[in-house]
Amino acid sequence: MRHDIDNILNCLAAQKSIDFSGYNVESLVQLLDKRIAYTNKQSYKDYLAYLQQNAEEPDKLISALTINVSEFFRNPVVFDYLAEKIIPGIIQHKCTAQETTVRAWSAGCAAGEEAYSLAILLNNIIEKTQSDITPRVFATDIDRKILQKAAEATYHFNSIKNIQYKLLKKYFLAGKETFRLKEYVANIVSFSCHDLLDKRTLVPPESVFGNFDLVFCRNVLIYFKSEYQDIIFNKLYSSLALNGFLILGEAELLPSRYAKYCTSLSDLHIYHRITS
Ligand SMILES: C[S@@+](CC[C@H](N)C(=O)[O-])C[C@H]1O[C@@H](n2cnc3c(N)ncnc32)[C@H](O)[C@@H]1O
Repeated sequence: MRHDIDNILNCLAAQKSIDFSGYNVESLVQLLDKRIAYTNKQSYKDYLAYLQQNAEEPDKLISALTINVSEFFRNPVVFDYLAEKIIPGIIQHKCTAQETTVRAWSAGCAAGEEAYSLAILLNNIIEKTQSDITPRVFATDIDRKILQKAAEATYHFNSIKNIQYKLLKKYFLAGKETFRLKEYVANIVSFSCHDLLDKRTLVPPESVFGNFDLVFCRNVLIYFKSEYQDIIFNKLYSSLALNGFLILGEAELLPSRYAKYCTSLSDLHIYHRITS
């Protein structure tokens, strides 16, 4: 069975240059089995043939193997902390240093909820401080289908239930059953497809040079085996600007070998890069 699963993953890697071998095996097998059942195939071998013969199936399989659950302002206390204790300091520093842009990366952005939450927060704080700083949020995911949804910037109530009413009114247009983010704030975010395990790049190519003030990678690392988590940690750390902040998910901790390079702030899994 393991051999059949490897054959499917190798085929996907050959077709899409995306390597799923670093994912936790148990959850991967469950998700793969679900996809096989959905396509009415009777065995891994049948499914492999189907994957090879159907041009649309590789992207569908990638979507099936990724878990895209997210919501705006997920774990709101983290965003409150950023809004009160971190982002105003970043903006202040930019103004003093006469820098023009604040740069952020949402790595594993799902349908854009986290990236747009950050865009709203940055826009709000920049407006309040009346500073001339431009916010830029690069948002990446491995799943092209979810990125298409992200670009639509339209959400059902479930995704936006954590948003304060005044922010909802300010930044969204209400439709019949959905809420659409206003264009000027949606435009702060650029989406692109990027595999966090891609060895050829340290930062999303669209961002050109990384040097991020804020890097969010929340609820992504939990799906990887520990040696692959290390590859991703290296990438995230080196993409941070000196004095930048890395924000991980509730169940994710920066390995202790980074202790001399980053300090941990509060117990919210926010880390501050303190050495170059
Ligand atoms: C559970 S969602 C987390 C969304 C958001 N960060 C949050 O915390 O609400 C995990 C996302 O990671 C993406 N992902 C999984 N493996 C990835 C990889 N190798 N490179 C980039 N994104 C990946 C999935 O497609 C999925 O959208």
